[in-house]
Formats: sequence, C-alpha cells, structure tokens
Amino acid sequence: MQKVSVKLKKKVDYSYDIYIGNKILGDWLLDYFKQNSFSIIGIITDSNVDKIYKEKITSLFPKNSRWFTFSAGEENKNINTLLQLSSSLQKENFDRKSLLVALGGGVTGDITGFLASIYMRGISFIQIPTSLLAMVDSSIGGKTGIDTEFGKNLLGTFSQPEAVVIDTEFLKTLPEIEIKNGMAEIIKHGLIFDKDYLLNLKDTDYEKIVKRSCEIKSYVVSKDEKENGLRQILNFGHTIGHGLEKLFDFSLPHGICVALGMLIESRISMERKILSIEDYNQIENILKNYGYLNYLEKIKGLDIEKLFSIMLSDKKNLKGKVRIVLLKKIGRVYNEGNIYSFPVDINEFIKVFQTLNIL
Ligand SMILES: NC(=O)c1ccc[n+]([C@@H]2O[C@H](COP(=O)([O-])OP(=O)(O)OC[C@H]3O[C@@H](n4cnc5c(N)ncnc54)[C@H](O)[C@@H]3O)[C@@H](O)[C@H]2O)c1
Repeated sequence: MQKVSVKLKKKVDYSYDIYIGNKILGDWLLDYFKQNSFSIIGIITDSNVDKIYKEKITSLFPKNSRWFTFSAGEENKNINTLLQLSSSLQKENFDRKSLLVALGGGVTGDITGFLASIYMRGISFIQIPTSLLAMVDSSIGGKTGIDTEFGKNLLGTFSQPEAVVIDTEFLKTLPEIEIKNGMAEIIKHGLIFDKDYLLNLKDTDYEKIVKRSCEIKSYVVSKDEKENGLRQILNFGHTIGHGLEKLFDFSLPHGICVALGMLIESRISMERKILSIEDYNQIENILKNYGYLNYLEKIKGLDIEKLFSIMLSDKKNLKGKVRIVLLKKIGRVYNEGNIYSFPVDINEFIKVFQTLNIL
C-alpha cells in the first residue's frame, strides 16, 4: 500500500471588525471601496428593505454594483431563494473576485452569508444589518444558513464576513414588534453575561446598546467559534423559544418566544436551586416590564407532549431529554467545566409549566 499525505495544517485568521454608529454608512462605504476593489458587487436584500432603502442608498455603492431582491419573510429563507439568487449572480457573471453585501435583517444575512460561502467555493461578503436582531446577534459570529422542510437552519456553514457595518439610523423604520424581537436578544446578553448592562437598558441609546451586545457576542464567539462549549450560552431561552415558535406555527413573534423561553429556563434554574429566588423574581419583573409576559396567556394550556417532541427533534438534543442553558445568577450561566447545557425530561417540564400556570 502506498500513502500520500495531503498536508493542510495552516494558521488562519478570520478576524474582522464591527463598525457601529449613527449615519455612518455612506462614509464607511466610500472608504471601504477606496481601499478594496471587486470585479462586481451584489447587494442582496429583501422586498421590505428594498422598498424603503434602494433608491435612497444606491448612490452609496460603486457603479459595478447590482441589486438582488427576494421576498421578505422567514418562509423564504430556503433553497429556492438560494438557487434563484445564485442563478442571478451567474447571469451577471459574478466571479471569485466579487463581493456580496447582506443588507437587511437576519434572514437576509443568513442567506447571503450562506450563498457567499458556497458560490464558486466561497467569495467575500460584508454584513449591513438593518434590524435590531441582526445588529446585536445574527450578523456577528459567522453562522449562515437556510431552513429546510425539517427545520430551521439545517443547511448552513460557519463563514465569517469581511466586516459588519451597523448604522443605527436603519432602526428608525423598523416596526415596533421587530424592536421587541431584537430586545429579547439584548436582554439575553445581559442575563447570561452582564448584569449592569441589563439593569441599565432603560437608556435607549442604541449605539451604546448595540456596541455592548456586539462585544458580548464577539467575546463568546471568539472563545468558541464552532459551538463546542461556551457558545452554547447564547442558546439561553432558545431551546424552549424555538419549540414555542414551532408549536404555534410561527404565529408568535420570535422575540416573544425567546423571552418566554428565558422565563421558563430561569424558572427551571430556580427550581433546581441553581438560581436564587430573588434573582428569578427580578428576571420575571424585567420581562414583565418589557411586556413579554402578556403573552403567557396565549400559550396557556399548550400541548406539552407536542412541545417536548418538537424540542427533542431539535438538532442539539439527544436521548429523550432536552438540553437547556441554566442560569446561576443574573449575568452568569451555570456550567460544569466546558458543559453549558443540561438535560431536562418531560416530567420536569410539566412541573415547571404548572408552577408558572401555563398548564
Ligand atoms: N446567524 C445567526 O447567528 C443568527 C442568530 C439569530 C437569528 N438568526 C436568524 O435571523 C432571522 C431573524 O432575523 P430578523 O428578526 O432580523 O428577521 P428578518 O430578516 O425577517 O427581518 C424582520 C423584518 O424586518 C424587516 N426589516 C429589516 N430591517 C428593516 C428596517 N430597517 N426597516 C423596516 N423593516 C425592516 C424585514 O423585511 C422583515 O420583515 C431568523 O432566520 C434566524 O434564524 C441567525
């Protein structure tokens, strides 16, 4: 037998910067395209963002830019949209020296990042998030992907952008419910990482808030890019949140489901005597003040068996138990070494849902 080794050990540096400010986009783009040239640039956006911004900001991009718009909505974060976009790029002769720009919310960011990571085996992309959720969460960390008929984000890659540019001016046109969706992630950052940040959120200086959330998310991602340990803490509230979203056929907004997920996961932490009653009460109060708990009524009497089986089918859960992140105190998650999520069985869920008056 003969052997030929394919030696691929190499040091790579995928670092990038996040630029944050109000009305910074024009200057940033001017500077960026002065320093970097591309054969052709594809701005990918959804139909809502297109309607509000295409005319206004086309002139900020170089002449060799093309716009590609897909229909807004999570239901379009799928293989069909991906293939349509890829065909459009091919028709316009996009090559390996081209750049994609994700201009939009998390759906746009996820699909554009995924497309960039597989188009001709990978081309450069930048993120220009326009929703609060995308600014504080989805545009950072390099997770890309699309949904399949079996669930959310089941096809995807880890692929980091060249840069993320956050212009908080975009928030002016964002619907109130989308602000609530982003706010849930911001509260999550406070709960898992930074109590002071959480307690000072009342001051709605978005530039400051977005910056702190970006710091927290990028710290976690840089310690554990591929979610082998620490990055799991970002799933706090999401195991149950995603389950609720699916159980109610996506009729409840994502942020509401995550907030309720955080409440229930905090309650489990308290019932296990990991989190103090005082901290739990404070969390409940904060979520109540933001209006999230008004939705408890909507999930009252839910089908817990069905919710449990939905959560079990999530890719992160194994062996008849659902794994969730637990809180040790406000600002700190519970861990055992490099393990940050812990199994919960259906009986424990039933008990906690009963104490919360959901069942
Ligand atoms: N990659 C990751 O790490 C990661 C993390 C969290 C969430 N996600 C993904 O992000 C997606 C959710 O992101 P989202 O909440 O931004 O959804 P989204 O992209 O659908 O945007 C929400 C809505 O706001 C509209 N919109 C966006 N910016 C606007 C603006 N400035 N003015 C007016 N309308 C605007 C959009 O058209 C859409 O209707 C989900 O698909 C989720 O899976 C990914």
